Amino acid sequence: MSVNRIIFFTGKGGTGKSVISAATSLLLSELGYDTLIISSDPAHSLSDAFQVSVDRDITRIRDNLYALNVDPVKEAAQHYGVLMDYIASIFRSRGIDEIIAYELAAMPGMTGIATILKLDEIIEKHSFDCIVVDMVPSGEALRFLYIPALMGKISRRVLKLVSPIASMSKILEPVVGVPAPDRESIDKGLEIVDRIERIKNYILNHDVTSVRLVTNPDSFSINNTRRTYIQAVLYGLNPDLIVVNKVFPKVLKDTYLSEWVDAQAKLIVELEDTFYPLPIRRLKLFDRELKGIELLLEAAKEVYGDDDPASVFYKDVGIEVHHKDGELEIIFPVRYVGKEDLDIERIGDELLVTLYTDMGPTTLVIPLPAITYKMRLIRAKLINDRLHLIFMEERGNDEQ
Ligand SMILES: Nc1ncnc2c1ncn2[C@@H]1O[C@H](COP(=O)(O)OP(=O)(O)OP(=O)(O)O)[C@@H](O)[C@H]1O
Ligand SMILES: [Mg+2]
Repeated sequence: MSVNRIIFFTGKGGTGKSVISAATSLLLSELGYDTLIISSDPAHSLSDAFQVSVDRDITRIRDNLYALNVDPVKEAAQHYGVLMDYIASIFRSRGIDEIIAYELAAMPGMTGIATILKLDEIIEKHSFDCIVVDMVPSGEALRFLYIPALMGKISRRVLKLVSPIASMSKILEPVVGVPAPDRESIDKGLEIVDRIERIKNYILNHDVTSVRLVTNPDSFSINNTRRTYIQAVLYGLNPDLIVVNKVFPKVLKDTYLSEWVDAQAKLIVELEDTFYPLPIRRLKLFDRELKGIELLLEAAKEVYGDDDPASVFYKDVGIEVHHKDGELEIIFPVRYVGKEDLDIERIGDELLVTLYTDMGPTTLVIPLPAITYKMRLIRAKLINDRLHLIFMEERGNDEQ
């Protein structure tokens, strides 16, 4: 079984991920793609958007379009129930109260991984041309997509190693003082690792999977989008489009909201500078809630125009990251540079880079990846419209 395209929508809470996912899936189905939309949103946002009740089973919405609500807590219990029992038994053996032991065993992120595992299960059982995933409202959501890249063969090797001694370790239990994992926990663990390995091939393939970022024209959402974008690239995912949603239409220009209209226009220019050359599409704020098939299709046509939403809108790696010998080089494409002159200020976990261009100064805010927190910026240079930032690990015995 198979899938040709997987499109994740992510962004801050309330920006419009669910409606834009729904709109995208509708247009895909209209273009004849066999499409499934998945949401793990407990708020039933797909039912609201389509105005059709969407189930925990794959529900038909219209020709070529199916929807599924994943219950991540239930999925997690199904996939990890056995493992949770085992981990909780370790905590219990240390005298921790049963309720607390289960709280500790329910590691953060498990529900997020559950959605990814569900995706693998669907790809295994069904054939869809496109799967659209409406992600949970969290900047952290992308981390779950990273897990497949992170968990390689190592975990399987460890589990295979433990497997034959499972019965033997029962004997050692009183000696080691930790309950031995049973056969079932180990098999379940192996199954999860297998699934994650399989899904990795889809998620990290830029011809198959894209991440689309939904944002609103306010500085708070835009800052959040910068961070999510850099995370996505660092995790090896391919962000191929940004959708700026809830843009005030120009008719509001001479009204009470006129200042907002101007401020939004400025922010959108800033957004284009920051994310250049990633394509950015706009969607106006409608005069009512965006729901129902007709309105969603209208929105999809505004976002995609005559383009096919299944295309990969952008593929070259916008940011390059090279890491070796304690040095980290991050290369950003920048726009408008002529004079090749710049100022850099590091504030907390962000760099403010002011470029003095032929069109006047422009400042970029670059969120830094966690790995640089312990590093020093040693060089910054502009080469052919690309900003090279070189960081070096701080030595432990540095002078005061
Ligand atoms: N362009 C728009 N015009 C009018 N209403 C919109 C528009 N975009 C979104 N909305 C409305 O804003 C609300 C939030 O949208 P939506 O549920 O898609 O956001 P979300 O990012 O999925 O939120 P959450 O983070 O809670 O999952 C909904 O009521 C939706 O109808
Ligand atoms: Mg939503």
